[in-house]
Amino acid sequence: MDVVCIGGGPASLYFSILAKKANPGWNVKIFEQNPDNVTWGFGVVFSDETMENFKEADYDTYKAITDSFEHWDDIDVFHEGTKVTSKGHGFAGMQRLKLLQILESRASQLGVKIHHDVIIDSLEDYKDADLILAGNGITSFIREQYSEEFGSDVVFRPNKFVWLGSTKRFDAFTFYFNKNQHGLWRGHCYQYMPGHSTFIVECTDETFAKTGLDGCSEDDTVAYLSELYKEELGSDKLITNNSLWRNFPRVKNKNYFHKNIVLMGDALHTAHFSIGSGTKLAMEDAVELADCLTSFNGKLDKALPEFQKRREPIVDSLQRAAQVSMEWFEDVERYHDKMDPLEFSYSLLTRSLRINHANLEARDANLVKDVDTMVLKKASAQSGVKVTASPPIFTPFRLREMLLENRIMMSPMCMYSADNGLIGDWHLVHLGSRAMGGAGLIMAECTAISKEGRITPGCAGLYSDEHVVAWKKITDFVHKNSSAKIGVQLGHAGRKASTRLQWEGGEKEQLPVIADNWPIISASPLAYTLNNQVPKEMDQADMDNVIKDYVKSVERALEAGFDILELHCAHGYLLNSFLSPKTNIRTDKYGGSIGNRLRFPIQVFKAIRKAWPLERPISVRISAHDWIAGGFEPSDAVEVALAFKAAGCDIMDISSGQVVAEEEPVYGRLFQLPFSERVRFEANIPTMTVGNIQSYADANSIIAGGRGDICVIARMHLFDPYWTRHAANYLGHQLEMPQQYKSVEKYNPRWA
Ligand SMILES: Cc1cc2nc3c(=O)[nH]c(=O)nc-3n(C[C@H](O)[C@H](O)[C@H](O)COP(=O)(O)OP(=O)(O)OC[C@H]3O[C@@H](n4cnc5c(N)ncnc54)[C@H](O)[C@@H]3O)c2cc1C
Ligand SMILES: Cc1cc2nc3c(=O)[nH]c(=O)nc-3n(C[C@H](O)[C@H](O)[C@H](O)COP(=O)(O)O)c2cc1C
Repeated sequence: MDVVCIGGGPASLYFSILAKKANPGWNVKIFEQNPDNVTWGFGVVFSDETMENFKEADYDTYKAITDSFEHWDDIDVFHEGTKVTSKGHGFAGMQRLKLLQILESRASQLGVKIHHDVIIDSLEDYKDADLILAGNGITSFIREQYSEEFGSDVVFRPNKFVWLGSTKRFDAFTFYFNKNQHGLWRGHCYQYMPGHSTFIVECTDETFAKTGLDGCSEDDTVAYLSELYKEELGSDKLITNNSLWRNFPRVKNKNYFHKNIVLMGDALHTAHFSIGSGTKLAMEDAVELADCLTSFNGKLDKALPEFQKRREPIVDSLQRAAQVSMEWFEDVERYHDKMDPLEFSYSLLTRSLRINHANLEARDANLVKDVDTMVLKKASAQSGVKVTASPPIFTPFRLREMLLENRIMMSPMCMYSADNGLIGDWHLVHLGSRAMGGAGLIMAECTAISKEGRITPGCAGLYSDEHVVAWKKITDFVHKNSSAKIGVQLGHAGRKASTRLQWEGGEKEQLPVIADNWPIISASPLAYTLNNQVPKEMDQADMDNVIKDYVKSVERALEAGFDILELHCAHGYLLNSFLSPKTNIRTDKYGGSIGNRLRFPIQVFKAIRKAWPLERPISVRISAHDWIAGGFEPSDAVEVALAFKAAGCDIMDISSGQVVAEEEPVYGRLFQLPFSERVRFEANIPTMTVGNIQSYADANSIIAGGRGDICVIARMHLFDPYWTRHAANYLGHQLEMPQQYKSVEKYNPRWA
């Protein structure tokens, strides 16, 4: 088999080593544009964990690499003159050139032919090769030439960065945050060999524009940054090596291969330098591709799809983490002045949530103890309740006169089990058991303010006196048998009304009700899907009626004994249909600008705020992202939160999507958390954060990192009604049991 590798970076070199080792008869060639012993950049970082993966693949290179390592355990964060050190991170750095030399030497030893000083700008000469490996890095001309076939997606990020070296010795991975007359600067620094360090400097494009450095020489950059880092550098120097200011390109490809060409490393995907995983990803690609080709005896039709199948989930997950990390650094201005050094450092360390509260505790228990104490102090001040040692999720939280015992809320979840809006025993057991399960707040499902406002015929309602009696039975039970508070989410389904029950095709297929379909209304006459009715565009009389229905339901909610209300302005229902530019195409004062689109939801909010006692809080759930071009964006969510806050909203519940059927959401662990964090910091209002929160450690990270004030958990609560009790047990926190269950207060369950 003839394999041609374009580019001689870590991807091509490591692949050629592994392919040639397993298949000595294969003819493997590498063409690299740089001369021998020349490369760009300074050092690369590997975590201890990454190296374990390479030990098995080729022990010789593993040994040579690890022999060249500079190790460190600590991360130092400098914030406003204070240094916070976090221990136990286990990283190693080495010179990029040294890494390439090790890989080249091993590849040559195995018989790989490496040609330097060859710039390839066309694949014409290699059309007879069995396999062409595009390992030619971020700017790969091969990826660009076949961008359609690969389904390439390259986004240049807004921040500017420059990759420099320094003679300064760093004993820890060091993050600097320095301010000058132009703005806030991020420094990412680590030592890769004695007396040699990588020193990456990053700033927003806004800050960069003020410096006048655009198009400057490397000397100008060094002069400017030497002044900025005067104190940190002392007598040490900054060093350049093709150190130009760039914007980071985020690269993704739908198809990893096209015919006999396969993308690898940075040509295939990039991971922001703040998680230092680009080289790791490139080398892991190499391991998997070599293995697939070897297993299928070089048969590309089997090996290449298998390569993509194995790598894609891993690459996607790492790119998601890299994206969150990159965005954290892009948005540092958001946190820097609002956090003290400890909170800021915790936020940095847990930014991509690959390290959560428990992982950090395993690395540095003392730091996490300090963080827990900080959270306790803040919670005491916020709630007015003196609290003793507790994990972050078990600290209290106050909203007006409502005091929550902990930060866990059961998310509103439709049960589609009511009859003409009337709830029954199912709801009592469903909600009652979650209250006994320890959650601090139970939010009852989306409850219709009118018969027509129901999503399905099975939806709960608060539009008749009979409904009040049924709900009262539940709130009484919760108040009597638990310390949980209970709220109700009031909604009108708008253009998503009048569909079948979830399990009869209502949710996914949006099938209409078979008999008794009822007319529906929305901001604009746009059907949700082809299966849905076209709603009537609401006129003033419709709006007045909806406000009246809301107010009546609020009065009923009060009678029914709820502690908090939630106004449902999310998931494409009536009020959301006004907020989103995709569903609101009105030309009157209720459409157009965000201010106009907010007008009706705010009118509703003001009316319900007036009808609800001052001492009881109200939350508003919004979809912070429509997940579609031209739709509602997280920046709009900040504006919307500011408007609701001004109208008296106490806390925003930040969800996303389900607004238009064509949405393309990017799901993942805690995928909506960045929206909550943004609203919390930029609109300066408490947030409830929801979306794939499952683990106790993630929930603790959310609270401790200031990413949300309440963790809202839906499906995990269906899976485990006692999630909060189990969290308390796991985290060693004493949560009072109902008296009937006292016998298990000190129980030590054996699960398997
Ligand atoms: C600022 C910065 C900091 C980084 N820090 C780290 C870090 O700490 N840890 C880490 O793991 N990763 C880091 N990376 C990422 C890392 O450098 C890359 O992810 C990794 O090198 C990818 O390997 P590769 O083989 O795919 O591509 P590259 O290493 O880019 O290799 C591609 C090679 O192809 C050659 N080439 C390109 N075009 C042609 C052509 N037409 N003809 C012939 N040859 C060609 C290039 O000269 C180059 O040698 C960082 C990246 C940046 C930008
Ligand atoms: C069965 C079910 C019913 C739901 N009903 C509602 C609802 O009534 N109101 C609402 O705002 N969200 C509703 N949701 C969305 C959840 O509240 C939550 O936002 C979503 O499931 C993401 O959280 P999770 O990852 O913890 O499940 C529902 C979700 C499920 C699974």
